[in-house]
Amino acid sequence: MTTITLGEREIRETVTMREAIDAVRRGFIDLAAGEFEMPTRTALRDGRFLVMSAHHRSTASAMTKTLSVDFDRKPAITGTVVWSETGRPDHLVADAAVVTTLRAGAAVGVATDLLAAPDAGRLALIGAGAQAPDQVRAVHAVRRLRQLTVVDADPRRAHALVEALKPELPGVELLTAADAESAVRRAEIVCCATNATSPLFPESALPAQVHVNAIGAYRPTMRELPDELLADSTVVIDELGAALEESGEIIHAVEAGAISRDALTELGAALTVPDTEYGKRTVFKTVGVAVQDWAIAHLLAGKFLT
Ligand SMILES: NC(=O)c1ccc[n+]([C@@H]2O[C@H](COP(=O)([O-])OP(=O)(O)OC[C@H]3O[C@@H](n4cnc5c(N)ncnc54)[C@H](O)[C@@H]3O)[C@@H](O)[C@H]2O)c1
Repeated sequence: MTTITLGEREIRETVTMREAIDAVRRGFIDLAAGEFEMPTRTALRDGRFLVMSAHHRSTASAMTKTLSVDFDRKPAITGTVVWSETGRPDHLVADAAVVTTLRAGAAVGVATDLLAAPDAGRLALIGAGAQAPDQVRAVHAVRRLRQLTVVDADPRRAHALVEALKPELPGVELLTAADAESAVRRAEIVCCATNATSPLFPESALPAQVHVNAIGAYRPTMRELPDELLADSTVVIDELGAALEESGEIIHAVEAGAISRDALTELGAALTVPDTEYGKRTVFKTVGVAVQDWAIAHLLAGKFLT
């Protein structure tokens, strides 16, 4: 048996954001086609330890990810991804922190490509933590950014992120803002990547046409978006069972009667219906599902296991 172990450097040197987006898009399409067995993840100690798995029928390959989440630690998310295929003696073990940021970014890239206006180029990013750089890279891969405005509860993090991304974003106007409300006022795309427990801005702060991605809340007690925004938008989610069990904003909005379950569209299903008109306000809410990790692990297996 051979085990190949991949750390951040090998993964970053091997997988581009564009490849990650394409792999995650194919993963969501296969999920909609019933190609995956994917239980809702196990959350232990109120979400501080997560176990996720997915089995892809036609390649007989499986991914298991274990995560530890601690917001008092940097990085907050650590863990391991294991990929294996029936009949193969070798398998792959990868750093879950980097796979997670890459696949969370890639899902946002897929959704933004589907839902944002074709000429959208002004991005407001709320939350400048570990997930933030890949959120920006993913949006930039599908919509050429003209302007990026970053906000964080800790302004030093917002400034540090802008400095770190400068070499990757030549020609893009890079700004920081004092608060989320002013940052989103002229945005064409918004990314929320915080561990907040209440909405980051009121719906009234947003322009008439905008696409909002929200990746942060992954427990019923967490929320980044107001009910009113969900009520007035086309809402696309990663997977219905996961959203109803884990997404604080979806649970809150359904319980408050602001949206119904029937109004929620899964990303995979949306991808299989091309040329749909989604309206002026769109939201992609993702808690993160195992098919995304499988997609990145499968990509890595194709490159490293011969
Ligand atoms: N959906 C997914 O696939 C996915 C994947 C990974 C992480 N996450 C979640 O995304 C969130 C961010 O993860 P991370 O690894 O970047 O965490 P992190 O701790 O590195 O960063 C979080 C950042 O959000 C900022 N923040 C918190 N509340 C804020 C507020 N009200 N306004 C502005 N900034 C605020 C913090 O100051 C911090 O800089 C977490 O909740 C994490 O669980 C989701």
